[in-house]
Amino acid sequence: MARSDLLLSIVRAGATGDRTALRSSVEAIVAEERGKNHHILADRLQRALNAVTVSPPATQPSASQSGKDTILESTPRRRLEELILPLPVNEQVKQLVEEQHRADLLRAHGMQPRHRVLLSGPPGNGKTSVAEAIAEALAVQFFTVRYDALVGSYLGETNSRLARLFDYARTVPCVLFFDEFDSIGKERGDVHETGEIKRVVSFLLMQIDQLPSYVVTVAATNHAELLDRAVWRRFQLRLALPQPSLDALSVFLDRQFEAWPEPAGIEAGKLAASLGHISFAEALEFCQTVRRQHILALGNRALRDIVSEQLNLWTARVAPEETDATRPGETSPSSKRSERHRKAPVGRRRQPSTDV
Ligand SMILES: Nc1ncnc2c1ncn2[C@@H]1O[C@H](COP(=O)(O)OP(=O)(O)OP(=O)(O)O)[C@@H](O)[C@H]1O
Ligand SMILES: [Mg+2]
Repeated sequence: MARSDLLLSIVRAGATGDRTALRSSVEAIVAEERGKNHHILADRLQRALNAVTVSPPATQPSASQSGKDTILESTPRRRLEELILPLPVNEQVKQLVEEQHRADLLRAHGMQPRHRVLLSGPPGNGKTSVAEAIAEALAVQFFTVRYDALVGSYLGETNSRLARLFDYARTVPCVLFFDEFDSIGKERGDVHETGEIKRVVSFLLMQIDQLPSYVVTVAATNHAELLDRAVWRRFQLRLALPQPSLDALSVFLDRQFEAWPEPAGIEAGKLAASLGHISFAEALEFCQTVRRQHILALGNRALRDIVSEQLNLWTARVAPEETDATRPGETSPSSKRSERHRKAPVGRRRQPSTDV
């Protein structure tokens, strides 16, 4: 059959729910792609096809019941190379991607690729970005779980929605992203929590355990300490994304400078030190503010002047008094603000060297 006919028959089969026709058309494409030595595409098609058989059309629930409404689907754009990550994080994420890419080889030896990742760290340092970048590297859809649609007020409702969500997720290779995971995966021993929450957590963990390895579950939290110990155990990769070190921040700023039409008038390292103990997201916000002001000035102001003006405004901004992360490797305070943060109470983990 010609390629266009095959595509048409796939669309028709999908629209009418004819699984047999869908299977034979996709199998024809798989064979065609193998003939062209496009093994990666052929394998992916085959895997997607294997997933189709999970729910027969007769019992397929309607869209509103299918779990689709508890998921935000998006095509990932963020790339791993764009992110500045601690070396071990970079290395482990690359290993995960390779294991997923070469899953067939692993399976031939009776092993599964790793597919459960826990990301922890203070806001704005790349948890969502890493999850999306994993999906981009695997060329799969990025599914973000919508708690607003997931948590029901009636007893047992959350669990049945969770069940539908997982049923939907396992129909296709994807990254399934649980943001703010602590809001659902909290310590079960917490005396304030009701039996319902405990049941939800147990059920959630069981579902995560049962997911096939082509579904990569990524959970993110700013409060790893709130997570149930059983939750920790589930995740094969546990990656910390701390506040950037001075070096990492300098690299980030340098990359921003490259996109600017004029010199910034200050070295990235010096600007990083002046900005103090901040997240990547805050550094990005600073740079974007500089760019906005420069654009609005219509060429009447030098960019370097805007940088220095914004730096003055920056030091006067309102910021949280304490942070639960320290900037590792910082030997001398670079500003009053960073001095204050150096006294912040919790510094659970030293940040490893940064892959730049
Ligand atoms: N490690 C990083 N390298 C480069 N850019 C980063 C990094 N981390 C964050 N950014 C920038 O900051 C933005 C916000 O980061 P992101 O949303 O991934 O943080 P987060 O840890 O998920 O924050 P939150 O806890 O608030 O959800 C990103 O879009 C990106 O531009
Ligand atoms: Mg996030």
